[in-house]
Amino acid sequence: MNADYVAIRLWSLPGALVLLAALALSPGVAAQCQVGLDAPPTEPERPNHHPIGRSLPLSPDFRQPDGCTDAFWFFDDDRDGEPDRAETRVFGPDRQVICASCHDAMPPADSAVATQTYLRRDPATLCLTCHAL
Ligand code: HEC
Ligand code: HEC
Repeated sequence: MNADYVAIRLWSLPGALVLLAALALSPGVAAQCQVGLDAPPTEPERPNHHPIGRSLPLSPDFRQPDGCTDAFWFFDDDRDGEPDRAETRVFGPDRQVICASCHDAMPPADSAVATQTYLRRDPATLCLTCHAL
């Protein structure tokens, strides 16, 4: 893409939006990430619960993680380059959602009391770490 082409595109608003969308979707920081390990085995998907084993789509409906280790990607909300407990994760090269994306540890048994303690984030903000509404 040469400079003239960019200038022409920026003249038209739709063109500029397409360009911005392309820039927003380009992997950016995360492009330097190499997640080599597959997503770890996880518990079976639970009825009436969030699906697991799905890859985070590279689409405007989803936020894209901006940090990674060699095993998972994370949303580096505090920008310290470290995966913190309270940061949502997706696992493996294909960026899968598994239990550990949202849960820091599993409650010993189904228990309403345990849930918030074991979630990475408050349920009020958890969904919007991945879903862009
Ligand atoms: C997208 C985020 C997300 C994923 C992925 C997820 N959970 Fe949850 N989980 C939640 C939230 C939010 C709650 C608390 C609200 C509720 O009770 O639905 C919860 C609650 C729970 C609870 C306690 C309440 C209940 O429903 O029994 C258990 C146990 C649990 N999750 C297990 C799992 C397991 C096992 C997996 C993987 C198979 C999993 N979760 C995947 C978000 C998630
Ligand atoms: C770790 C990232 C992540 C978090 C956090 C998350 N989601 Fe999702 N969600 C996904 C992905 C990935 C999909 C699958 C998208 C696809 O396959 O196109 C999905 C799919 C869904 C679907 C569609 C289910 C289906 O059967 O297709 C719903 C509804 C949903 N999420 C609601 C929620 C709610 C509510 C929360 C908060 C409790 C939440 N999500 C948190 C990543 C996430």
